[in-house]
Amino acid sequence: ATERTFSILKPDATARNLTGAVNAVIEEAGLRIVAQRRIRMSDAQAKKFYEVHAERPFYGELVEFMTSGPVVVQVLEGENAVAKYREVMGATNPAQAAEGTIRQKFAKSVGENTVHGSDSLENAAIEIKQFFDEKDIVG
Ligand code: CMP
Repeated sequence: ATERTFSILKPDATARNLTGAVNAVIEEAGLRIVAQRRIRMSDAQAKKFYEVHAERPFYGELVEFMTSGPVVVQVLEGENAVAKYREVMGATNPAQAAEGTIRQKFAKSVGENTVHGSDSLENAAIEIKQFFDEKDIVG
């Protein structure tokens, strides 16, 4: 089925001027960027977004990284978009990411791993709502 997923190009991507290169991989995979905005994530936004990881030892570092520079928030649309985008991103740890994936090509470490993508259709809807109004998503 056609789905929407939520994506973030993280601060390590914007710092290295890689937003176009990452978007090219996304589009070549057949996913459509139906909403996109470059923002500076506030501390409150990052803490809320990563709430599920609040008890993890890396939570503080994660929030600090995600607010350390501009990010690009996106809505991606396509057939099986949630699973498709996870495949296109590659494993969370770039050392384990498959050839041709975004993280294999660009990511530096498990923390600075260039992109985020929703892990389920349910979370995609929750995450999209945190950053986009329905009227700003143009399919
Ligand atoms: P993301 O998909 O954005 O969701 C949670 C993030 O936590 C994950 O990508 C990683 O970038 C980050 N993360 C996971 N494990 C670690 C870790 N050991 N140290 C720092 N960050 C981590």
